[in-house]
Amino acid sequence: MIETTHLLDVDDLTAEDLETVLDRAAAIKAGEDDTELYRQTLAMVFEKPSTRTRTSFETAMTRLGGHAIFLGPDDIHLGSGEPVKDTARALAGYSDAIMARLFDHADAEELAAYSDVPVINGLTDDAHPCQTLADLLTIRERFGGFDDVTVAWVGDGNNVAQSFVLGAALADLDLVVATPPEYGIDDDVLERAADLGPTPTLVDDPADAVDGADVVYTDVWVSMGEEDEREEKLAAFEGYQVNDDLLAGSDALVMHCLPAHRGEEITDEVVESDRSIVWQQAENRLHAQAGLLVELLA
Ligand code: CP
Ligand code: NVA
Repeated sequence: MIETTHLLDVDDLTAEDLETVLDRAAAIKAGEDDTELYRQTLAMVFEKPSTRTRTSFETAMTRLGGHAIFLGPDDIHLGSGEPVKDTARALAGYSDAIMARLFDHADAEELAAYSDVPVINGLTDDAHPCQTLADLLTIRERFGGFDDVTVAWVGDGNNVAQSFVLGAALADLDLVVATPPEYGIDDDVLERAADLGPTPTLVDDPADAVDGADVVYTDVWVSMGEEDEREEKLAAFEGYQVNDDLLAGSDALVMHCLPAHRGEEITDEVVESDRSIVWQQAENRLHAQAGLLVELLA
């Protein structure tokens, strides 16, 4: 079993925990692990929309013999009068774990502080650790491990990027990050990554990141909740699109956590190309989270 109680970000895991979760995920995916979470319930709190996170967690709980309850923004009192700490204690009284997709990362920390069952971060403005678990599972499947694999992150230094920086450090994966200077990875995340393993090489020019990369990874430029910054961000990210020109001369695979804004951070041609592994990555959310749930709850 893994050491942590909650997964608020990737650095709640040790390197050994990470390997344990990925091994468990791989075994479940291969049909070689029939551990059950019989009659266990996952409360799923969503302040933002979701296709993959909601469906993969719910499906994982069903396949494991348990149950998941979807609690959308109009379903519960969170955010409209009831403090997070009260929601935490009420939900913890009914369920075996809480998964939450929230705006403010501090709210996820408060949920965990007041919950005596595991809290899993299903995305906050700062972090998306479950995505990183699926990303690392996907890279491991494609390359057989993390040695000699170089990933280029191209685009926004956002929640997905920040958790991936921590995951790359923990997995000892080489990472080059190309962002506009004003949208880089937070210093705090770089410091936390330095405590775990190698920190990413930071560059401004996407071409410098893609040169020599085995995988090119991007995500939307305008994340959920940033709609007011749209014009400003689109201008800042000019030249950062993952397209055939950027990838010319490279045989890198392409990852995207999805949803993709085709025509902005990535082109339709690249998403639909043979180098795209986005569907494997999306499916692996299910397996990675099943592995995590078993490790936290079984
Ligand atoms: N990648 C991801 O978390 O997708 P959803 O927003 O659809 O859950
Ligand atoms: N960075 C994106 C990821 C969506 C899964 C967002 O926060 O909207």
